[in-house]
Parts: sequence; C-alpha cells; structure tokens
Amino acid sequence: MQSKEHWEKVYTTKATDTVSWFQPHADLSLDLIKATAVSHDAAIIDVGGGASTLVDDLLANGYTDLSVLDLCAAALAAAQRRLGSRAAKVQWIEADVTKADLPAKRFDVWHDRAVFHFLTSAEDRAAYVQTVFRAVKPGGHVIVATFAEDGPNQCSGLPVMRYRADELHAEFGEAFALLSHQKEAHHTPSGTVQQFVYCYCRRIGS
Ligand SMILES: C[S@@+](CC[C@H](N)C(=O)[O-])C[C@H]1O[C@@H](n2cnc3c(N)ncnc32)[C@H](O)[C@@H]1O
Repeated sequence: MQSKEHWEKVYTTKATDTVSWFQPHADLSLDLIKATAVSHDAAIIDVGGGASTLVDDLLANGYTDLSVLDLCAAALAAAQRRLGSRAAKVQWIEADVTKADLPAKRFDVWHDRAVFHFLTSAEDRAAYVQTVFRAVKPGGHVIVATFAEDGPNQCSGLPVMRYRADELHAEFGEAFALLSHQKEAHHTPSGTVQQFVYCYCRRIGS
C-alpha cells in the first residue's frame, strides 16, 4: 500500500483521539516553540501535522502565521472540522514533504513530530533535509521529534527509524546546529509508553 493510501485509510477509519500518537495537547512541542522566542507573526509550519492539536494551541497562544502540511487529506479535514471557523486562519498544505515545493526561506519555525522517522530510505531523508534547508530562513528554528533508540520499531503499523539525538542531528548535517535535545515518554491512548527524542536545531548558513 502506498503511504498516502495508508494514511487516508487510518484517518477515515479511526477516531483522531484513539490513534497511538494522539496527544490532547502537544505540550513539549508548544514549550519548545515558545522557547524559540519568535514573535507572534513568525511563520510556523507543522510538518506531518495530521490532526494534531498543536495548531489549536498555537492559535490560542496568539501565533498568526501558521501552516500545517500533511499528505493525508482526511487528517487535514479532521483538524479543520475541529477548529471550525478558526481553520481559516491557517494555511493547509496537502503534500508529501519529500516532494513538496515549499517557498524558499519562508519559515521561522519548522516542527515535525513523528514524521521523519517514517523515512526509511536515505534518498527520502536527504530530500526532506534539502526541503528544510530551502524552506527555513537562515537562523530559523527546526524542531524534529522521532522515536528514540529505545522507542517502538513500528508506528501505525509501518516500519520506522529510531534515533539517538546525535544520530538524528547527523541526518541533518552541519548546516543545522543542534542546540538541545530531550526525551519524552509518550503515553498512548491504549496505555502503552513510547519513547520519543526531540532535537532542537537552528539552520545556519545564508
Ligand atoms: C504518526 S502521525 C503524527 C501526526 C502529528 N505530527 C502528531 O504528532 O499528532 C504521522 C503523520 O505524518 C503524515 N505523513 C506521513 N508521511 C508523510 C509525508 N511523506 N509527507 C507528509 N506527511 C506525511 C501522516 O499522514 C500523519 O498525519
């Protein structure tokens, strides 16, 4: 099954608050974004945001230039339904991040929780990193969270890569400075625990 087909099936057959990656609030992501100290009109993108509630909390915290990118139309539609009229304040981008043609130097903050770890081919990971480098402003903030080295080896039934912080940073290379990293034990709706690692980097270069 192709990736898009897989995700459309997931988001049309399961309630968004029952999937293993569901968080009522993406607290650590929100804290990391706030800690960047970007202004409220900074351009922030949640890549593979799906039906995440992060966008709700970013809006509630006064951020005004928000984009959510996901290859799954059903996931984006679920988030839009939940937001109601507030959905109009967000730019919704239905695209595969490894092929997306995002504007150059558009974003101040790039956030990805549980998407990069699905990229099991070196080619896809390189395409992703190239897109981050192109779309994020020099000095921009990059927050990427994947399953940690002691996390599960599957997510949504698909094989994933697991990373230590230094390994995750190595995928991004010297054009990104690793400023901090931390682990999080995510409690799934079914009561299991999944170890995540969050890397916070800044894009360097011009
Ligand atoms: C495990 S879910 C995580 C969703 C969200 N980031 C969260 O933390 O709740 C993975 C999401 O990535 C999306 N996705 C998977 N591969 C993608 C790709 N190549 N490009 C864009 N989105 C992708 C899926 O549709 C799904 O919404």
